[in-house]
Amino acid sequence: MSAKEKFCKKGFEKVECKECGGFYHSLAPHLGKKHGISVDEYVAKHRDPDTGVAPLTISEYASKQIDRGRKKGAAPLPTAKAASPTTTAPTAPATPPPPAGAVLDFGGWELGIRDDATLDGFRDHVPAHDPNWEPDDDILVRLAEHVALNEVALLVGPTGCGKSSTVAELAALLNRPMVRIQCDATTSYSYLFGKTIVKKDDSTGQAVTAIKKGIIPRFGEAGAFIVLDEADALDPDVRIALHEVLERDAAGRRKCTIEADDQDDTAAAQVIWFHPDARIFLTGNNMGSDIAGNYGGTDSAPNLAFLDRCERLNVSYPDRATLTRILQKKSGGLPKNTAKLIADAVHEVLVSHTTADLPWCFSVRRAITLATKMKLYSERGISPAVAVERTVLDNVHLPEPRDDVKEILQRVGLPVTK
Ligand SMILES: Nc1ncnc2c1ncn2[C@@H]1O[C@H](COP(=O)(O)OP(=O)(O)OP(=O)(O)O)[C@@H](O)[C@H]1O
Ligand SMILES: [Mg+2]
Repeated sequence: MSAKEKFCKKGFEKVECKECGGFYHSLAPHLGKKHGISVDEYVAKHRDPDTGVAPLTISEYASKQIDRGRKKGAAPLPTAKAASPTTTAPTAPATPPPPAGAVLDFGGWELGIRDDATLDGFRDHVPAHDPNWEPDDDILVRLAEHVALNEVALLVGPTGCGKSSTVAELAALLNRPMVRIQCDATTSYSYLFGKTIVKKDDSTGQAVTAIKKGIIPRFGEAGAFIVLDEADALDPDVRIALHEVLERDAAGRRKCTIEADDQDDTAAAQVIWFHPDARIFLTGNNMGSDIAGNYGGTDSAPNLAFLDRCERLNVSYPDRATLTRILQKKSGGLPKNTAKLIADAVHEVLVSHTTADLPWCFSVRRAITLATKMKLYSERGISPAVAVERTVLDNVHLPEPRDDVKEILQRVGLPVTK
């Protein structure tokens, strides 16, 4: 086994320093201390002359992003002195562009960080990096593999387990624009792909027909990550129309054909070629296997031909220790023992949901809300049991499962009102 295989097996555990040949969990402090250079200088110096790229680890890039966020005064987490909530929209932080030509290594799958200069009007569509994100190495490496191979990743898992945010985090790390399309049975062909419109020709003043591109070709041309959330809820006819963009041609290219209006024989169909960086992701809670009916509106299973064009990636809730860390960080410092109780409750409810038909799920999303409320309530002298009641029990939609969930919460040791 080579030194690289030994130390970099999972891509972001240890990385080789090209200055001295040693392996380190994090290069940034080592470079500063031992070699007196910054990560940017290191990347510029060690960029491969043939490929023009310099590998970083994901943790290196993420830590740089976090540093930048700190310098720019990232939004503070809730604290005892937090001001009352305001409705002012946060202004987008002006993150400096990442080093051009840099790549991130995800377990051997190297993905290029997009240069800001190539983003044109799509810079605002690059998601913000979440400094409190806890990466799941396995999911991330598999997702990176699908991106590297230009495959369509189909992420399947219970609500609030982190499917959409994992793709967003990858887009943030790679400086790629991303668009999320929330699908349901009414999502139309024209919204997704495009439609024929009548407009005035500026030079002749005559009415002419033209094709207006839908959201998929617009973001496909820009090389964005296109995320179709809840793709299993799409109308079957629209879903079948998606087949074309799920495939690549013999030259490896992806395209989208926007059909002209049937009634109008003056408009021709238009073909839009995707930028080579464009990727399609699909997310869903069950992909038609919702036998218990927990995810209404998603019960028309995509057919085999649709599923055959995708690579399925099953996602579950983060394990208890990871979830405890997420809850502590995202609540702005809930004590570890309380965060652990919430993580236990999430997992106990999940077991009942999957093995005993409990028709409710305690998602990571709701767990973060509970942790944040418990922290804020404690600062305001409100009982933590009230937070549990309002955030969890009031949101279980039926009386019987509410009693079951209450029992689980009591069993793990969370405070519950009588
Ligand atoms: N590994 C993680 N680290 C930090 N936060 C996480 C992690 N996984 C999930 N979250 C948080 O949990 C919440 C739910 O995640 P997300 O929206 O990605 O779930 P989802 O699986 O897409 O859910 P749905 O099926 O309902 O769309 C988000 O606030 C996200 O930031
Ligand atoms: Mg989602």
